[in-house]
This record gives sequence, C-alpha cells and structure tokens, in this order.
Amino acid sequence: MQYHISNWNHWEKRCADALRGNLPDPEVLTKLKFRYTCPAKKDGIYLPRWKWDSDFHAATYRHFDPEMAWEELQGLFVHQVAEGPDAGMLPHMAYFSENDDVNSQNLFRHPHRSILTQPALTAIVALAVHQKLPRPDILKAIYPKLAAYHDWFDRRRDPDNDRLAAIIHPWESGWDASQRWDQMLGITKDTPNPMELLLHKRVELVGTLFEHHCDAESLMHAEDGFYVEPADFNAIRAADLDALAEIAREIGKEQEEIDAFRTRAEGIRQAIQEKMITVNGENRLHVHDLVGADEQKNSPDSASKFVLLFGQCVNQEQAELLRGELNGNGSFFNTPYRIATMPTDNRLFDGREYWRGNVWLPINWLIFTGLRRYRFFKEAEELAKNSLDLVERSGFCEFFNPINGKRGQKFQKPCPQNQSWSTIVLDMLAECKESLG
Ligand code: GLC
Repeated sequence: MQYHISNWNHWEKRCADALRGNLPDPEVLTKLKFRYTCPAKKDGIYLPRWKWDSDFHAATYRHFDPEMAWEELQGLFVHQVAEGPDAGMLPHMAYFSENDDVNSQNLFRHPHRSILTQPALTAIVALAVHQKLPRPDILKAIYPKLAAYHDWFDRRRDPDNDRLAAIIHPWESGWDASQRWDQMLGITKDTPNPMELLLHKRVELVGTLFEHHCDAESLMHAEDGFYVEPADFNAIRAADLDALAEIAREIGKEQEEIDAFRTRAEGIRQAIQEKMITVNGENRLHVHDLVGADEQKNSPDSASKFVLLFGQCVNQEQAELLRGELNGNGSFFNTPYRIATMPTDNRLFDGREYWRGNVWLPINWLIFTGLRRYRFFKEAEELAKNSLDLVERSGFCEFFNPINGKRGQKFQKPCPQNQSWSTIVLDMLAECKESLG
C-alpha cells in the first residue's frame, strides 16, 4: 500500500483525467445549471446522469476539485420530482433532453428523467465534500431536499410499515442483472441467453410500473410486479439518514429534528437484524432480501451482505463472520481479484458477464468504508490495495473479472474502459494515506 500512497500524485492525476474526460460535450454543458460527469462517454452508452454514479464521482472529485464535487451533487436535485405522489424522489437517470436521449425519453415517458431511483448516498457524500470545502450555504439549500427524499421513501416505498424500503425495479438496486433478481424475473439455470432475456424483462417491467403508477403497495400484490426489500439498499439508507442527522446538526437544527433522523436509521437497523439475517451451520452469515407481500427469503448469497458493514447493521460477532468470509481460505468470495459480487459457488456465476459475479469498485468502496467503520483497518487497506492493483492492471474498467482481473463484458462485448465511478479508488487511497501517514 505504501507504494500506492507514495504515488498519490500519479493516482490523483489519473483519476482527474478520467473524470474530466467524461464531462459532457460543450454544447450539452451550456444547457446545464450545474456540471455533471457522464459515467462513460466513449461510444455514447452512458451520457445522461446516473444518480449513484454522481455520488461516487463527487466523493472522488472532493480530493482535487471540491467545487466540482459540489456541482455534481447539486445537479442531482435539478430533476428531483417536484409534485405528485412521488414528490421528493431523486431519479436514477436524468438529463435526457440535454443529450437527445430519445430511447430513454420513450422508455420512461418523460422528457428529462427516469421514474426510478438508486441507492441513497447523497447525504453521506455531501457531508464528506463539506469536510473538504465547507459550504454551509449549499448544505442549507440541499438539506430540505435530502429530507424530502427520505420522506418519499417512507411514504411511497414502505407500504407494510416495517421501516424497510422496497425497490420496484432491479435498476433501483444498481445491481441491474444480478442473479439476485433471477427468480423474480423467471430465470433458471436452464434459461438460454439469460442476459438478453433479463434485459428484455427489465424493459418490460418499466411498462408494468406505468400500469401500477409506480405504486409500491399495488406492485407488492401484483403477479407481474417486482417488489423487493433489499438488505444492502436499506443499510445504505440507514447510513445516509445518519449523515442527514449530522448535516442537520452542522446547520444548527433543533436537537429533536436531528434525533428524529437517527431514530429512523436505528429503526432500519433493527428491522434488518430482526428480519434479514440468519447464520447457517458453517457459521456463514446469510443476509436476505425480502420478496413480495409475504416477504419470502429467497435471495441467493451475494457480496451485498458485506454492505451491511457500511450501514453498521451487524453486531460485532456478525461483523467478525463477515470479515472471516471476505478473507478466509476456501471462501467463495475470496477470488484472486476481489471482491466478486456473487460467490463462485453460485450455479450461474460468470466472472466476465455484467453483474453475474464481477468486481465493481463502487461496491468495493462501500465494503472498504464498512470495514473501517468496524475498525478492521488491515482488511480495509488490503481491499483498497486490491482495488488499486486492478486499475493498475486493467484501467478504469466499468467492472472486472474476479478470476483474472481483466476487463468484464456486457453481452459478450468488452465493458467501457474509462468508467468514471471506478476512480473511487482515489477516495480509498486517501483514507489509507490519512491513517498510514
Ligand atoms: C449500470 C449499473 C448501474 C450504474 C449505471 C451507470 O446500469 O448497473 O449501477 O449506475 O450502469 O454507470
């Protein structure tokens, strides 16, 4: 790790170049109130803004261009839903009209944005950016918007009032094509061309959302609906509510208002403990996503369970089990390149193909941060090193093969090489640099 730390300037430049190389074209930039960074510009696949990508971009920018980090975050609220039942929602994609993205406009039947969300990380990153470049004026301006976002989750995504928010489409999880959703989408180990069928199903599901007016309560009971309370999604949200409490404190809100966010975060943690965690005979922690109105626990094992560390949703003993499994001999997550998002013993594991077991650096970052929250500094540092080594070997790929460290593939074609969010390795490096000096 010392080697990477002593090369901080090199890493900072590489990350800055990768992010800046993905700024929208000048004619798009002139239409924007705040600049944002495309996930990947080459070949034009990822030109609009994606929500949690922008969160990760801001976490990286804060180290060398904190003004840009603030812009990236402020841009997230431009298309926050202003009225109607979904008021407060932050869309998972935006800026369709600026990019003439007719396909997305048609799919989501909206000129500017999608009708879905993605994991709630924005308060966490805003606080981190504020630590680098304090801007109480911006914090004050975005605070009610962040609060409205979290209120929206409670109002629209928790129809059974169990404090666990539901997603109504795999895209909302950020783990688009993962085996986690196979069963709900009718995919089995015998399905020919599962990737194509999965894509078809995801597109079809958007139509279903319109039929149900994106109403989670209705989707929860619908035969053709997708309704899942994912453990990692909720763990991230708990951490975001904590950060929101911290922002409220920072801008001088009353204690009662601050405490209310913490109570909500705690409620999520309790619900995760009560409903989502089991330990099997081999002392392997199983974390379940809950599916449908009857909350079936049928999710396959995945690296999403390690994200519970990020939300501080496990007790010390459970955290030790997770630590053991990440690093243990014979662990199905302890691949030559880490961390495989699906364990290698999953029957449909495919380290090359999109979300079927690849390494994704933003997921590594969530786990890295979680390990540090439990003071597993050595393991966190090791993971940061693994992540930097991967980039050194293969570049800022969108995702990597955990078996050979090579660039992954999407529908058998290589995935993008200069993916903005893979620069999140800089934030991991910065944290290690600070603790190791
Ligand atoms: C893919 C990923 C999603 C990400 C988006 C943009 O759809 O699955 O998590 O936000 O690409 O990078």
